[in-house]
Amino acid sequence: MSDRSATGGFDASGIDEEAWTELEKQLEATIPVYDRVNRIMTLGFDKGMRRHVRNHADKGMKILEVGCGPGSFAVDLVGMELTCLDPSAEMLKVCKKRLDESRSSRGESQATYIEAVAEDIPLPDNTFDRVFCLFSFRDFRDKKQGLSEMLRVLKPGGQLIICDAGKANWLHGIFGRIYMATFVQLVARWVTKDPNHPWKWLARTYTHYGTHGFYKSMMREVGYTDVKARLLFPGMSSRFKANKPE
Ligand SMILES: C[S@@+](CC[C@H](N)C(=O)[O-])C[C@H]1O[C@@H](n2cnc3c(N)ncnc32)[C@H](O)[C@@H]1O
Repeated sequence: MSDRSATGGFDASGIDEEAWTELEKQLEATIPVYDRVNRIMTLGFDKGMRRHVRNHADKGMKILEVGCGPGSFAVDLVGMELTCLDPSAEMLKVCKKRLDESRSSRGESQATYIEAVAEDIPLPDNTFDRVFCLFSFRDFRDKKQGLSEMLRVLKPGGQLIICDAGKANWLHGIFGRIYMATFVQLVARWVTKDPNHPWKWLARTYTHYGTHGFYKSMMREVGYTDVKARLLFPGMSSRFKANKPE
């Protein structure tokens, strides 16, 4: 196990329990203004990023979103059989309310909601065509274990798509840290009117987040094939995709 004492419990492979429990509290505190802050801090590019990720799935597919949060991505998955997983009961409550309304207005069956962590998914092997993970991989306690659980529940030939804050390499990470420490903090403070707003914790998880190369190797080690990573325009977020062998 890594010694993360010098960083308050964080490194690129995971997060210690105490730090993660506090992070979860901070994430829940973002709920009332989550979409608004995201929209402003990405200058509106969040919509396009989510659309890009969504286009990896087709109607009729069985989908799992891991770390669904308040449903910001899941709400626009149309014509798919959907399972939303998150360890936060509070997040799931908001997600369910939002999705139940939009799915029933489209005449679709309700989604399934599961309170659990990515590292221990209480679902059978070989179940999903796609597993999506947007802006939650950074928060996993044990990234390798989470990747291996997501592989287990994918059908052979299925695909994992992860989208998170962009960190192509260490140089790009320096620009990202400046952006997180300045513009993002100003926006969050202005919207929340709170100098101790929860985006301070999100900047912390970005600081300790790994690069494309780090997670691509981890995905291959776990057993994924065709592992790819790229920045999404204009470079604020990264998209990984990786397949489960047939
Ligand atoms: C920033 S929100 C992302 C919400 C949403 N997916 C989106 O597209 O905006 C991060 C979510 O990851 C969840 N999370 C944190 N640790 C997790 C873990 N170990 N396994 C699964 N989800 C986790 C949090 O509870 C939170 O709801």
